[in-house]
Amino acid sequence: MSSAIEKLGLAVQRSVWSKRAESWDHAENPGLGRVVDAVIAKANLVKEDEVLDLGCGSGQLSLPISKGVKSVLAVDISPRMIGLLQDKLNESGLSNVDTQTASIQELHFVDESFDLIVSNYALHHLSDDQKKLVVRQAFRWLRPGGRMVFGDMMFGRGGTRQDRDIIVSKISIMLRKGPGGWWRIVKNTARYLARVQEKPISQRAWTQLFEEAGFLEVGSEIVVAEAGVVFGIKPGTPFDFTSR
Ligand SMILES: C[S@@+](CC[C@H](N)C(=O)[O-])C[C@H]1O[C@@H](n2cnc3c(N)ncnc32)[C@H](O)[C@@H]1O
Repeated sequence: MSSAIEKLGLAVQRSVWSKRAESWDHAENPGLGRVVDAVIAKANLVKEDEVLDLGCGSGQLSLPISKGVKSVLAVDISPRMIGLLQDKLNESGLSNVDTQTASIQELHFVDESFDLIVSNYALHHLSDDQKKLVVRQAFRWLRPGGRMVFGDMMFGRGGTRQDRDIIVSKISIMLRKGPGGWWRIVKNTARYLARVQEKPISQRAWTQLFEEAGFLEVGSEIVVAEAGVVFGIKPGTPFDFTSR
């Protein structure tokens, strides 16, 4: 990860999300909360789990997960998002969440560092090659028997009936919002077509990435019209927590 274009892409993401940090809220979009719930349900939390959350935002997934596990490392490219998460941690007194301001593409961990790796609504910002690389790296960072669960927008580039239905439904929701919504249609369509910022892939493409990386019991489910979860388990016997 070193080309000037990639560095520029990261700088853009950092700036965009620092500006959107305060307004990014699941309250405006109840569907996002349902995807978080689905990620948690598929994660089968264990109280000894050491968890990594990729693109954590201000903790929409890290915070609820932290209540059922040993620790969470919450990573996000936006210092503002991490600042907001830190405020929430200070207010709540939760002490098992660590934060790191970093891009997912630049992360390095010792192999077999985590029991569970999660992400919600962040990975569609990565290019398809970067998604592939992250899935492969995350496989290495998991302990044997470790789980990975990602929630995200899941649709392709309009090649299937499902893609087209999702695109039409997103456009009609935004149309109903009046001029603000119309402007978002223009912006989001341009980003989607140009593969800038919004780069979702289909359910099948996600399961393929997991399978190619070596995950077992790979599956995916659509949770709301545009989004779903993909999950898999790293082969091997789960770690014996009592010996840690
Ligand atoms: C749509 S928000 C989702 C936040 C949170 N996970 C949630 O469920 O609400 C996307 C988040 O991904 C982060 N992000 C985007 N690209 C990233 C990257 N390359 N590395 C790390 N974080 C990134 C953004 O800063 C933002 O906080």
